[in-house]
Amino acid sequence: MKVGVIGAGIMGAGIAQVAAAAGHQVVLSDIALDRAEKGKAGIGKQLDRQVAKGALEAAAAEALLARITPAGDTDGFADADIVIEAATENEGLKQKIFAGLAGKLAPQALLATNTSSISITMLAAGTDRPDRFVGLHFFNPVPVMKLVEIIPGLATSDDSRAAARGFIETLGKTAIVAEDSPSFIVNRVLCPMLNEAIFALGEGVGSVEGIDTGLKLGANHPMGPLTLADFVGLDTLHAIMEVMQKATGDPKYRPAPLLTKYVEAGWYGRKTGRGFYDYSGEKPVPTR
Ligand code: CAA
Repeated sequence: MKVGVIGAGIMGAGIAQVAAAAGHQVVLSDIALDRAEKGKAGIGKQLDRQVAKGALEAAAAEALLARITPAGDTDGFADADIVIEAATENEGLKQKIFAGLAGKLAPQALLATNTSSISITMLAAGTDRPDRFVGLHFFNPVPVMKLVEIIPGLATSDDSRAAARGFIETLGKTAIVAEDSPSFIVNRVLCPMLNEAIFALGEGVGSVEGIDTGLKLGANHPMGPLTLADFVGLDTLHAIMEVMQKATGDPKYRPAPLLTKYVEAGWYGRKTGRGFYDYSGEKPVPTR
């Protein structure tokens, strides 16, 4: 298959990596070629680590990388079987991207979004193919996390649902189907928990280390909630909570004030070098 990916950030690059690992040809596109090349270089580093550990043959890593073509435009999508959008979690930006793709994809191509919370039905309505549009929600780090949520919109055809499931199976991932409800299944449960941990931190219930150790050792979570919030990106978590609050009108989903402050400060977590931990040194250091 030929797969187009829009956005060469953490999620887009991860999706490109697993698609290429499954043998698909991938066009990894971003707003400028150098961004797409940076995304591909990051994949190369991940693969180098796997080769060094003996988990992957050097030749296989090279072949995988050769299947990924970075691009600064979407011209290479014309003959793609599926195009997956993984741009920033921003409704207006995603709508602009989909409007720009109108008439540019093959009629039978499946168009997907990796949105973590925005209405699939609403995004689909702004495309040239609401019946061939679906939500495919991957989890970070994409090469490690085994789940993908499939979210059909109101207009998504049965054929498109089957095609989406078939594609996810080629990646060796497990698919679950979620209703097109704000944040779907996993984030509906996970993000309020991360937000609650930030409320607890803001109220002085525990320190960063205390809260993270608590959930790691007391609930067997692989990462503490504040580490995970930094990992997901505090800007992304904030956007998800705002979507949930706006869509439901329920104040229980309001972003924690401390989360809003961190986002206002530009402290987005791991990707900016600072969130609830400082990532500038060798080991993350709690900041509160
Ligand atoms: N990319 C690729 N592989 C990675 C990776 C990355 N970013 N990070 C870790 N790995 C691999 C490692 O190479 C290692 O592979 P091997 O077993 O083959 O050696 C394996 O994952 C385990 O890694 P580590 O031993 O370094 O560390 P760990 O055991 O602590 O696991 C983790 C790291 C898998 C990230 C684990 O901490 C974890 O599962 N954390 C929770 C992640 C999570 O909840 N993700 C969902 C976030 S929510 C989301 O994504 C949705 C949204 O819309 C917001």
